[in-house]
Amino acid sequence: MTQTLTKLDDLVSLCKRRGFIFQSSEIYGGLASCYDYGPLGVELKRNVKNAWWTSVVQMRDDMVGLDCSILMHPLAWKASGHIDKFADLVAECKKCHTRTRADHLVDKEGKTNEQAQTAEDLSEMLCANPKCKAVGDFTDPMPFKLMFETQMGANVDDSMTVYLRPETAQGIFANYKNVLDSTRVKVPFGIAQIGKSFRNEVTTKAFIFRTREFEQMEIEFFCEPGSDEQWYEHWKEQRMQWYTNLGIQAENLRMRDHDSDELAHYAKGCVDIEYKFPFGQGDWQELEGIANRTDYDLRQHQRGMRSTTSWFENKRDTLATTMAAEKEDWHKGPLSFFDDEAKKRYIPYVIEPSAGADRGTLAFLVDAYDEEEVKGETRNLLRFHPKLAPIKVAVFPLVKKDGMPETARTIYDDLKQHFNCYYDEKSAVGRRYRRQDEAGTPYCVTVDGQTAEDQTVTVRDRDSMEQTRIGLNQLKSHLREKLDM
Ligand code: GAP
Repeated sequence: MTQTLTKLDDLVSLCKRRGFIFQSSEIYGGLASCYDYGPLGVELKRNVKNAWWTSVVQMRDDMVGLDCSILMHPLAWKASGHIDKFADLVAECKKCHTRTRADHLVDKEGKTNEQAQTAEDLSEMLCANPKCKAVGDFTDPMPFKLMFETQMGANVDDSMTVYLRPETAQGIFANYKNVLDSTRVKVPFGIAQIGKSFRNEVTTKAFIFRTREFEQMEIEFFCEPGSDEQWYEHWKEQRMQWYTNLGIQAENLRMRDHDSDELAHYAKGCVDIEYKFPFGQGDWQELEGIANRTDYDLRQHQRGMRSTTSWFENKRDTLATTMAAEKEDWHKGPLSFFDDEAKKRYIPYVIEPSAGADRGTLAFLVDAYDEEEVKGETRNLLRFHPKLAPIKVAVFPLVKKDGMPETARTIYDDLKQHFNCYYDEKSAVGRRYRRQDEAGTPYCVTVDGQTAEDQTVTVRDRDSMEQTRIGLNQLKSHLREKLDM
């Protein structure tokens, strides 16, 4: 049976010990809610992103990719609604002045009040500072803006406030027309992007689950109004399958429909793909949101495009700029699509599957973790899907003599051209196997005394610990087949 990590602290220490994830700027005492990926972590996360890209871009004829800049014209954030509305409601404890997201405060039973708007609604809630014993002693929740601001431009005349993007999605909307005009795609089609996003999150201390700098893997899928429900269902199915195909256990994954009061006013539907993280009470937490955003974003950007004169008149002060009203013939606007065959013009509806690369990486890591008793000792291992495993093959000489290291090195030099490999000749071979188990390496190749005699090596399977003798001339194809690469 799969053993799980039930304490977040144990996961944090495993990640540090094995070089998956480190606290950012640790030598300076750390920077809250920012993390660095170590040698194994960077490979794991890269594999997660590659698996996503392969599935949603490479394997599909109706999807293309994009890589947009992090800084965008500030009007894009006015049009998207982020400048005016992207904020969390935050309440301050009157006793210790700790500020916490109102919807994250819990009462004695551990219950939250997601709809809390006033201090009265928080009368049963405990202060989030464990050193403060205050109960229900909060200010009224106030909006706290989540976008990081910075200044662009050296001259007073052309300098302006710009924002670190809080999502990659708006870069896709801003380029939708460029993609239509420069490629052969036609609606229905989608654009995928992987990239960094930034949010000045209030609630931290959730390891890489909620950070201030994170990576998203987002799709905006453009379709004809009326076909949106069908595409919404399609993407829900596709995205659930992606997680289970890569090894997440089905019982740890669910879809949760948003209640009507959770839905953005423009959204027709939204569902979260949630993973049952085993920490604390065993919490279902969002990995990915899939939303039917209707034609809202493209219509908003049409208004944004018509607001530039007002923006210049306001000396590039985006906060002071009022968005232009929507034109009566908005459906014929610059971001409309003309369907040549049906001779119809419309603003496409958008289905948006938006996933977190860090949250996905965390879920794959937690789900792969296992412990088992082997000959009276505990074996810790990460049962990663081979596509996600940071190291695919480790190569060892059984002992450091009799030409074994030289042969093992030759095998390693050959294999590393095809797979991410690791060479190790230090310590007893049993300990080397255990280290690779903990790194999640699916196969270990060992050169032993027999290799020189019959040109065979042993290939050890991480999960079953079985060892098979394979001829050197078949090793590459054997591993390729096993790794499905
Ligand atoms: N464009 C839609 C959008 O950004 P979201 O639900 O705010 O929607 C999508 O974010 C995904 O991005 C989330 O499901 C989560 O996986 C990831 N994400 C959001 N905020 C995050 C944070 N502070 N830290 C890590 N991942 C985050």
